[in-house]
Amino acid sequence: MCGIVAYIGNKPAKSLLLEGLKRLEYRGYDSAGIAIMNGKLNVARAVGRVSMLEEKLETLDGFDGSLGLCHTRWATHGGVTELNAHPHKDDKHGIALVHNGIIENYSALKTYLKEKGHTFTSETDTEVLAMLIGELYEGLGSDLEAAVQAALREVDGAYAIAVICEKEPDTLVVARKGSPLFVGIGAEEYIVASDAAAIVAHTTHAFALDDYNVVKITRSGFRTSTIHNVPVTPKIEQLELDLQQIELGGYPHFMLKEIFEQPQSMRNCMSGRIDAKDGRVTLGGLSNFAKDLTRAKKVILTAQGTALHAAMIGRYLMEDLAKVQAQTEYASEFRYRNPIIEDGTVVVAVSQSGETADTIAALNEAKDRGALALGVVNVVGSSIARQTDAGVYLRVGPEIGVASTKAFLGQVAVLTMITLFMARRRMMSADHCTDLLREMEQIPAKIERILEQAPRIKRVTEKYIDRENWLFLGRGYNYPTALEGALKLKEISYIHAEGMPAAEMKHGPIALINEGMPAVFIANKGRQYEKVLSNIHEVRARGGHVIAVATEGDEHIADHVHDVLYIPEVAEPLSPMLAVIPLQLMAYYAALARGHDVDKPRNLAKSVTVE
Ligand code: G6P
Repeated sequence: MCGIVAYIGNKPAKSLLLEGLKRLEYRGYDSAGIAIMNGKLNVARAVGRVSMLEEKLETLDGFDGSLGLCHTRWATHGGVTELNAHPHKDDKHGIALVHNGIIENYSALKTYLKEKGHTFTSETDTEVLAMLIGELYEGLGSDLEAAVQAALREVDGAYAIAVICEKEPDTLVVARKGSPLFVGIGAEEYIVASDAAAIVAHTTHAFALDDYNVVKITRSGFRTSTIHNVPVTPKIEQLELDLQQIELGGYPHFMLKEIFEQPQSMRNCMSGRIDAKDGRVTLGGLSNFAKDLTRAKKVILTAQGTALHAAMIGRYLMEDLAKVQAQTEYASEFRYRNPIIEDGTVVVAVSQSGETADTIAALNEAKDRGALALGVVNVVGSSIARQTDAGVYLRVGPEIGVASTKAFLGQVAVLTMITLFMARRRMMSADHCTDLLREMEQIPAKIERILEQAPRIKRVTEKYIDRENWLFLGRGYNYPTALEGALKLKEISYIHAEGMPAAEMKHGPIALINEGMPAVFIANKGRQYEKVLSNIHEVRARGGHVIAVATEGDEHIADHVHDVLYIPEVAEPLSPMLAVIPLQLMAYYAALARGHDVDKPRNLAKSVTVE
């Protein structure tokens, strides 16, 4: 996903826009650009981080106006070049536009516009939209709002856009379909952004656009309508985002901050939801659907990336504890596989952002086929939260680090609570539920104990930092944890890592093991402990170096491995919430030792809003 910020008011727009853009940089950071109205339209773009754009602006005049827009890009259409960076302009009226999302019918529109004599300078779908607005502008009485509405009626795909025009120097037009956009309302000023994080420093009074909404904003007010010009009354709310939550607060990186926030974010996630004394889980979002969940015949958990790993743990939990048939699906595959949805199927979309295009598409496919749709989402009011029948928010606070950490834990905790909510209504005894809930209450304190070992985890990681291939192995509940450990390492340290079930290794991947290859085993005490020990020996016999994540008190394992990282004892179904913590820290310290930008790993985006 890219980031958009736009401003109209009485203050100099440039510094305000750049400050907002930096807060959104985690969403995409391969190029950036800005357009400011100052009598005429001034546009600057640069490849690289927002700081590159900032440097460029220092050498340029004309960026002093109080109306403008800017963008930070994660490339989809067209490579990372200055010409492909936003804002894009039309070729007639001085229209500048920034865009998140994807215009699916851009090719047909481009052919039409070329026939009309327009010349394109980029490979992007966004420039097509800017040209189309320009093409329609005069015919609609030189009215930017009307031209935007008309152009959007021709467009298939997803968009959040902000548009300005040299001929209307006091107007900002913004619109949304399928990609978030918020309008912050200040005193005679408005700040628009694709993420509330860019707004809260200025105002908490804001509204989120609904799909197909267009807002025309001037310094004296705004008007909201649909793309068919039907007036709309927006729901103005208070943004519940604390500036502290989106600042580093003394940490060198958001990822480290978010790893260390996990005890508190878990407390927030569980607060008011679990009652160990009565063996009860209360999930307000699901209360109207308790019967459907009690009678559910099948649960399909769908997600991408880290969220999929959380969903896989959810599957184990649901089968094991709620005794319901469960399966996980890459959202991107599910939609196109002609899936079978029978009566009594519940689909759970798991997503930090709630905006992942693949996950939204899978969700809609399942809904169309009659499934009850639930969301396990972090971002309040996000697309998945709106499009599901019911759901449970993670309540872990904003996650800024591109590599997901506290959201993963929140997803696993919420899926555990949903499982227990179902299990108690199906066949789990109150005593069994009470035992597990008591253990859940202790998770935050146990995470704190693991975090205290960070310096040791750093030392162990640094021993292996020159190795280019790593294995992550686990069984049962901790097979998905192994996948997550491998993904974390890949994402930020660019080391090749594979996660797999520990037993699967001997069926092929064992051929990869050579002298000194690091293999991280999740070898906590549980049903499969002895089997994992055998797998450890298989690796050692071939020269591999084993790092074990083991249960405190298990001195015996130290005789079998090269390094041990201990986690407190915990009931097996809850063990991924502890076992993942050393793996998150290992990935962090590996990336740091290799000199990578932990919070902005190459090629990634925090949220991917294209399929
Ligand atoms: C992107 C991110 C991953 C994330 C995945 C799903 O690929 O880089 O870190 O796990 O999207 O994101 P979601 O917001 O749906 O959890």
